[in-house]
Amino acid sequence: MDKFVIRGGRPLRGTVKISGAKNASLALMPATLLASGKYELRNTPDLRDVSTMARLLQTMGVTLERNGDSLLVNTFRVNKFEAPYEHVKKMRASIYVLGPLIARYGRAKVSLPGGCAWGPRPVDLHLEGLRKLGAKIELERGYIIAKARHLKGARISFKISSVGATGNILMAAVLAKGTTRIENAAVEPEITNLAEFLVSMGAKIDGIGTNVLEVEGSDALHLANIDTIPDRIEAGTMLVAAALCGGKIKIEQCNPLHLSAVIARLEDAGAKIKTGETSIEIQAPKEIKPVDVSTAIYPGFPTDMQAQWIALMTVAKGSSTVTDTIYFDRFNHVPELVRLGADIEMNENMAVIRGVKKLKGAKVMSTDLRASAALIVAALRAQGETEVLRVYHLDRGYEAIEKKLQGLGAEIRREKGEEF
Ligand code: UD1
Repeated sequence: MDKFVIRGGRPLRGTVKISGAKNASLALMPATLLASGKYELRNTPDLRDVSTMARLLQTMGVTLERNGDSLLVNTFRVNKFEAPYEHVKKMRASIYVLGPLIARYGRAKVSLPGGCAWGPRPVDLHLEGLRKLGAKIELERGYIIAKARHLKGARISFKISSVGATGNILMAAVLAKGTTRIENAAVEPEITNLAEFLVSMGAKIDGIGTNVLEVEGSDALHLANIDTIPDRIEAGTMLVAAALCGGKIKIEQCNPLHLSAVIARLEDAGAKIKTGETSIEIQAPKEIKPVDVSTAIYPGFPTDMQAQWIALMTVAKGSSTVTDTIYFDRFNHVPELVRLGADIEMNENMAVIRGVKKLKGAKVMSTDLRASAALIVAALRAQGETEVLRVYHLDRGYEAIEKKLQGLGAEIRREKGEEF
């Protein structure tokens, strides 16, 4: 298992390009199951989660090929409608194949994802929505067995706004008979990217970008190509890294509009920020001001940036709180940040952070994707050497992060790691 060895304390300078959004690709790839043929998914990041989704689709008969930034997907020979446990246990987003399979082929067998590193993450909303569309769903020996002759449009009002459930129901509804109305739909940019892809495949969807989506089902969809949106979480992570380390960087190929909450909080923390149409420049603050954040659905502060924000606040001049209202238990990074010298106390789903003068390098362990990102950015600031073990978590969602950080002047290298 690889580790990163980081020598902290160097300011970041230069320009970095942001890759395509992992969470958009993980929805766009299964959407190709909705029509037979060849697709080009442009700006698909080269990541472990994308490879996991590719392998899952391959088991169904899909062929995939990389051509630079594009993923070429061929769905002519889909002949299996199953997502086995081996794949789903690696990546919960595998559940995204459920909606397209049942809509197009009338059946699907998908392993139940189970818990995740930071607690329970149910899929009840996905199943409830599909049942409303007329699917018969049973749970058998850890698998979701779904069947439907014809899905029928329905009104689905989610009790919680869910990115995954919105994506899954949307992919099912585009081939259902009649109209589906999805209320309290997720408005995250990755869902908008998916909806736009479906529209270019011939789907009729009203209300894209709002929390009420109205879908007029089609008999069939056709092929299309799509540009994957830039990864707002990778962009946000780079901005936080720069704010922590000092210096000035420019991030390119991003969408500043998708980052408004993160940009606003960084400005509150004292950073100077200039945005272009597809770029953001950040000048780190001389002194990081404490800023409280509470995560919320888009356009609020993303839960996927919560860990990195705590890392930033560990060296703020004063105390701050960071509350996660989406995932109450998503705080595995906290004890590891404490190993670097941070002063953090947990109070249920709120971290109380008292800023310290310095962080000091230590051995720490990645536990999940965003926790790993928080450890990396903290290590870039810490005095001396930090080893971040088990970076395979990071490889799930960040494309070539050490190369990108090296390009900004950071001292970071990948090595074969030993176990604790
Ligand atoms: C997606 C993102 C993940 C991000 C999360 C929240 C992908 C591949 N992953 O995850 O990076 O952290 O959105 O922005 O896009 N819930 C239920 N029942 C369900 C589904 C969800 O109760 O059936 C709850 C969850 O426990 C959570 C909330 O709804 O509290 C939001 O989760 P959701 O938006 O579904 O997250 P994911 O789609 O899994």
